[in-house]
Amino acid sequence: MTQFSGIQPTGLTHLGNYLGAIRQWAARHHRDDLFCVVDLHAMTIRHNPNVLRARAREQLAMLIAAGVNPDIACVFTQSDLIQEHAALTWVLECVVSYGELARMTQFKDKAKGQDGVRAGLFTYPVLMAADILLHGAEEVPVGEDQRQHLELARTLAKRFNATYGEVLTVPRAVTPRVAARVADLAAPERKMSKSSGDQSGTVLVLDPPELIRRKIMRAVTDQVGEVRYAPESQPGVSNLLDILAACTNGEPRALAEQISGYAELKERTAEAVIEELRPVREGVRELLADPAELDQLRAHGAERARAGCAHRLEAVLKVTGLR
Ligand code: AMP
Ligand code: TRP
Repeated sequence: MTQFSGIQPTGLTHLGNYLGAIRQWAARHHRDDLFCVVDLHAMTIRHNPNVLRARAREQLAMLIAAGVNPDIACVFTQSDLIQEHAALTWVLECVVSYGELARMTQFKDKAKGQDGVRAGLFTYPVLMAADILLHGAEEVPVGEDQRQHLELARTLAKRFNATYGEVLTVPRAVTPRVAARVADLAAPERKMSKSSGDQSGTVLVLDPPELIRRKIMRAVTDQVGEVRYAPESQPGVSNLLDILAACTNGEPRALAEQISGYAELKERTAEAVIEELRPVREGVRELLADPAELDQLRAHGAERARAGCAHRLEAVLKVTGLR
């Protein structure tokens, strides 16, 4: 099954992204998979060009350092295929309706109360559909918040095929099995997120060990005083158990029985997260210190991605009358 997924280069990649997405990609080792740094998506809101350029490199290095093997899966940066992605985006903009885009809840949320909303923010779900359909993905691992966008990609693939002929693969969403929802350490009823404003409950993949330790030692727990895996009644404690289990290949309920108090739970979780993220942080540092090596990996990914999608884009141009 060909999987495709993308991550925005925001520089704020956190433990939830890592456990819920990146680590799952790294565990697959399928030659047909494609994982992409979606830098074109990152300019749908106000952005700084130099920061975007640097973050896109850093995010690519992070995928590779986290174990997404560029000799197996295709790991690439979206803008390296800007012609291909933009070409299919245009074709699909002529398949989607205005009303369908206006119904996207993420657009409504992000645009609410903002001046000068970029049209790119409105058409972003079409670019996302183009990412997926250009590369013939069968499965797309995404979080809940992207389900509506994925439904749109399915609708557009089916409509395109019905209108012009069977060219596009209809993809389906897959949700990660474990750590599908890492909660905010400071507000465990909330998902850990890039946009939570307050960073004290968000562990970033590139945070130094001491900062990770401090954030975890300050995690909100409860007054119960007992280490139990009970996500409803003890969300903070259960979140720490989930994180510890994910980082040690353990089982949250079994871990709860071995741990006597909240201090021990936090210490073990902090240690496990620090050790889990250490090689990623060091790998990113090494890759960024060797620009020629990273450039070469980037070019290799782009070349593979381009070669893999060329026939599909050609077929799209042909059946739509552009060739
Ligand atoms: P985003 O931060 O929304 O760009 O998400 C990128 C990917 O990370 C999504 O596809 C989600 O599957 C995953 N993700 C984001 N936040 C979390 C979280 N708190 N827990 C688990 N997975 C997450
Ligand atoms: N929109 C996704 C997000 O914000 C990122 C993304 C862009 C993506 N293109 C994609 C995810 C294609 C899956 C497939 O998280």
